[in-house]
Amino acid sequence: MRPLMQSPSSRSILVTGANGVLGYAIASCFLEREPGSRVFLGVRNHRERADELAARHPGRAVVVGLDVTSADAWAAAVRQIVAHESPFAVLVNNAGFHDDALLATMSADQWGGVITANLHSVFLGCQAVLTPMMQHRSGRIVNIASLSALHSPAGQTNYAAAKAGVIGLTQSLAKETARMGITVNAIAPAHIEGALPPEWTEEQRKAVQKQIPMRRFARPEEIAAAVFFLASADASYITGATLKMDGGLV
Ligand SMILES: NC(=O)c1ccc[n+]([C@@H]2O[C@H](COP(=O)([O-])OP(=O)(O)OC[C@H]3O[C@@H](n4cnc5c(N)ncnc54)[C@H](OP(=O)(O)O)[C@@H]3O)[C@@H](O)[C@H]2O)c1
Repeated sequence: MRPLMQSPSSRSILVTGANGVLGYAIASCFLEREPGSRVFLGVRNHRERADELAARHPGRAVVVGLDVTSADAWAAAVRQIVAHESPFAVLVNNAGFHDDALLATMSADQWGGVITANLHSVFLGCQAVLTPMMQHRSGRIVNIASLSALHSPAGQTNYAAAKAGVIGLTQSLAKETARMGITVNAIAPAHIEGALPPEWTEEQRKAVQKQIPMRRFARPEEIAAAVFFLASADASYITGATLKMDGGLV
């Protein structure tokens, strides 16, 4: 059997929403497992955890202000990243949030805010990185969707639609970029330990957990490991895929 290629020793990786629970785990995974990489930590309002990561990895982890809903912010971030020598090789579109309500009472702002932050942001991010990736004829884009896209609960019409859009965008863009050595994949996690809805009571948490065949929520590190794999040379023949990570729930 032919040995699988190794990932290049030096490459630039951008993780959006890197101060959040999952973004921090993804950035940490690249920093720990890929010593040659430089990881750019996209932040918006909160940055204390990203700053701490950058302080622990001087020169290798760089905090970048990036509101993912702004095309100008994307252009500035990409300019900053390509100014470094390493090729811009990996984009992880992780930033996002939910703002749940029944559709009958959902405001237009609740609808638009969630669609913009979770879906329009992915359009902007992919468009911003395509040029540098096409120049190198290589790249990896990993989009964080959600199980809500595939198995949509009541109260999340905005979030489910946005994340389903991310999966559709992933499949379509993968076909557009396959011949250029750029893969585009998505991950659809169910609930993640440490980032459970804050309004849940202990009883609600236990009730949801009981429905999961593995009887536990995902650890952020488990999702991060899958992102790392999809961004590696070992995943060279995978594109347009959505990896469901739900402990067997669906
Ligand atoms: N938690 C779960 O159980 C779960 C399950 C499935 C999928 N997901 C998805 O996983 C991703 C990460 O979520 P998480 O659980 O790690 O949540 P989190 O801890 O709340 O982190 C979300 C991050 O996204 C950032 N963000 C939100 N809007 C942004 C914008 N317009 N521009 C830039 N950054 C923005 C936040 O920055 P600020 O703090 O500065 O606002 C924060 O750093 C999201 O896409 C989420 O939908 C989460």
